[in-house]
Amino acid sequence: MILVTGVSGGLGRLVLQGLTALSGPDGIEVVAGTRGGDGETARRIDFDDPASLVEGFAGVDVLVMISAGYAEDDIVLARHGAVADAAAAAGVRHVIYTSLAASGERTTLALPHRWTEDRLAHGPYDTTILRNGLYAELLGGLSAGSAGPAAETGVFSAAYGTGRMSVVAREDLADITVSVAAEADRALTSGGHSRHAGRTYELEGVTALGGTDLADLLTKRYGRQVDYHPTSLTDARTALAGHGLEPYQITHTLSLLSNMAAGFLEAKTSDVPTLLGSAPRPVHDLVTESATAGG
Ligand SMILES: NC(=O)c1ccc[n+]([C@@H]2O[C@H](COP(=O)([O-])OP(=O)(O)OC[C@H]3O[C@@H](n4cnc5c(N)ncnc54)[C@H](OP(=O)(O)O)[C@@H]3O)[C@@H](O)[C@H]2O)c1
Repeated sequence: MILVTGVSGGLGRLVLQGLTALSGPDGIEVVAGTRGGDGETARRIDFDDPASLVEGFAGVDVLVMISAGYAEDDIVLARHGAVADAAAAAGVRHVIYTSLAASGERTTLALPHRWTEDRLAHGPYDTTILRNGLYAELLGGLSAGSAGPAAETGVFSAAYGTGRMSVVAREDLADITVSVAAEADRALTSGGHSRHAGRTYELEGVTALGGTDLADLLTKRYGRQVDYHPTSLTDARTALAGHGLEPYQITHTLSLLSNMAAGFLEAKTSDVPTLLGSAPRPVHDLVTESATAGG
């Protein structure tokens, strides 16, 4: 049996859908986990409540552990550590964890992911680490503050410098997670271990976009010339302070901007095409949609 955590989230929902499509009398068995689970349609799985995990992981062979990164690091480490412990106690045989790709290594986001990878590596189960690239929607969201007004001003300003960010469609990440989880379940059912056991995959986007690329996309979207004006990290910090974000979100956002401007967020290689078995989905429309969603 496969359990997917976090099924109310964008990634978890897609993974559950994909695995459900493979389930049936002769297929795999999949169950949903979420903080709001009622025990009927979904199990209650709250990483902040270890008791829910011990009960929720009962009978689970393959755990698809969707990271729960929206909090300060000490909270994320405690919740991910609780999952590692509960999976061991429940006899889970293979844990698949959605981590962060290597291009994000120098960002503040990386620490809890690398800690979790290490923690899981010491567990009694097989592990597969899916190091997810940055979502296309993430770059769109970062760009949204200036992308909307650009329809009037003709100026797209952001603290991207000349850097670019490699971005990936969440659907591609979900498709890969589904195939890795299904393969793990089949391997366990036939008495073996998955070929993905012990593997770490870099699921980087194969397309990198920067400020000039965003301006070009907005030029097409608005049917008028939009030019990119790089701004400073100081200006970005000031602007973020007025957006009602949690303090840790400001830390992570500035870290992303700083890494992008320094050129670190552009990936060199990716395991996505091989694991997907087809060309990755195009990301330009996803970035434009999320950048202009509020306009
Ligand atoms: N690669 C990237 O660009 C990127 C961008 C943003 C986030 N992320 C990370 O990737 C994860 C999945 O992305 P997403 O797009 O699906 O995020 P999302 O749509 O914002 O969903 C948030 C996810 O966090 C889960 N969660 C929060 N607190 C939890 C807790 N206490 N216990 C268990 N689960 C908890 C939610 O599960 P419930 O069903 O229980 O609500 C949900 O799956 C995020 O949680 C974050 O760690 C990656």
